[in-house]
Amino acid sequence: MPRISKITQSQWDELAQKALIARRKAYAPYSRFKVGAALLLDNEEIVCGSNVENASYGLCMCAERNAVATAISQGKNKFVALAIASGKADPAPPCGMCRQVLVEFCTDLEIMLLNSTGTKKRTTLSKLLPHPFRWKGAT
Ligand code: THU
Repeated sequence: MPRISKITQSQWDELAQKALIARRKAYAPYSRFKVGAALLLDNEEIVCGSNVENASYGLCMCAERNAVATAISQGKNKFVALAIASGKADPAPPCGMCRQVLVEFCTDLEIMLLNSTGTKKRTTLSKLLPHPFRWKGAT
């Protein structure tokens, strides 16, 4: 299980910076709510994602799940930490769907929520999703 002590302050700073950069690349003309996500992998690489909206609103894709999909499609599935950047308001936590997608690949994950004005909050996936659904096979 990843532990916070493994993540250095400079890694957190870089993760926050990359989440803010990914946020700037978001395609959110409908909600105007831009989100950027930066996922730290166990090999110290960082994979990013932005939200991508669509005129057919139900097709909107969250930044966090786009980051996960990018990492998985590159054969990388060991996640250590995640930074999520949102707008000026209170830093937004990941939605329920993103929590469930994240928990598919890790027992726990250190998470930083940040907004565009510099407010940062720390949490973990197990705090945000204390009773995850996991597939145990059909009975
Ligand atoms: N959004 C994310 O990117 N991540 C979340 O966890 C919550 C919501 C996006 C989806 C949509 O483009 C916009 O924010 C408004 O819901």
